[in-house]
Amino acid sequence: MGDQQEVSEAGAAALPVPSLRWEERPEGPVVVLLDQTRLPAEEVELVCTDVPALVEAIRTLAVRGAPLLGIAGAYGVALAAARGFDVDEAAQALAHARPTAVNLAYGVRRATAAYRAAVRDRAGAGEAAAAALAEARTVHAEDVEASRRMAEHGLALLRELLPGGGHRILTHCNTGALVSGGEGTALAVALAAHRAGELRQLWVDETRPLLQGTRLTAYEAARTGMPYTVLADGAAGSLFAAGEVDAVLIGADRIAADGAVANKVGSYPLAVLARYHHVPFVVVAPVSTVDLETEEGADIEVEQRPGHEVTELSLPYARGAGAERSGGFGLAPWGAQAHNPAFDVTPPELVTAMVTEAGVVSPVTRGGLADMCSMSRWS
Ligand code: MRU
Repeated sequence: MGDQQEVSEAGAAALPVPSLRWEERPEGPVVVLLDQTRLPAEEVELVCTDVPALVEAIRTLAVRGAPLLGIAGAYGVALAAARGFDVDEAAQALAHARPTAVNLAYGVRRATAAYRAAVRDRAGAGEAAAAALAEARTVHAEDVEASRRMAEHGLALLRELLPGGGHRILTHCNTGALVSGGEGTALAVALAAHRAGELRQLWVDETRPLLQGTRLTAYEAARTGMPYTVLADGAAGSLFAAGEVDAVLIGADRIAADGAVANKVGSYPLAVLARYHHVPFVVVAPVSTVDLETEEGADIEVEQRPGHEVTELSLPYARGAGAERSGGFGLAPWGAQAHNPAFDVTPPELVTAMVTEAGVVSPVTRGGLADMCSMSRWS
């Protein structure tokens, strides 16, 4: 794992420091991450000096969320190139660190292609590394812009779907600044509604088992002043039944060509609830999350994570500052089996609309998605 360093706060924002940054140091470049396994108890940065450290950070979810995984993958390739490691080996390790979020392989592919093109053009090692870094910076900058545009399109859609304003939005997992170079995807839309004075309530699903809602979305909501309430995942149903939810906004890890959406486990039950209660279910994701090579939802590989994440509280935050990183706080009887898929797949017919940086697709159809992907980069 990488080295740790304390964060010093520099003004109120969604985050105290960027979720990920590239830093040139005398001993060589590093990728610095805000360690998401420590939040909200501790704001600690994790310094990755090599690709194995970054791969470990991806696997343990110190860095996570589809768009940020794409950025991390691209900088990981740049790191390998700059430090003289085998770039193809690094690219393989990074792209396969987690299987579901297509953005990871996308970011790796872009930086690797830039590196290889430079090598083909007979660039020296330094120039080829610079080409990989330039591409990683471009992937990063594009995500900032995509995030801004998704917030704009998403807010316009909310106004169309819910003309009265005063939105009560339910969200799942974490989709804010922690997953992006900008302000994120679904949470960026909620934040835009908040800034426009149109967010009455943000319902934050806790998001078992790793509690991205309780720990991370609540952290971002608190820092940006959004009115928010955390709920146990199982409490969502009665909230819909009581008429307390106007819209569901979630992100995505991979969107198949037919419009099926893989996102954090627990998203599909929300889509079913939303349909039953006639509430819009909106997916917000950059075009880079759409994978036209994956034909349909059943073809998406869903990451299976270790059972102890369900049977124990096993993240560092669960044991307080400075605690050892091994062993968890047991919840289930010793030896209990656990089923722990990290994602589920929502069929397109349950998705009211899909918001990307290129605009809104509704209804979600194979043709509509393909058209959006083939349009110029920005609309
Ligand atoms: O396992 P995680 O925390 O990486 O899962 C993240 C999600 O499921 C997010 O909802 C998704 O990546 C979209 S973030 C814009």
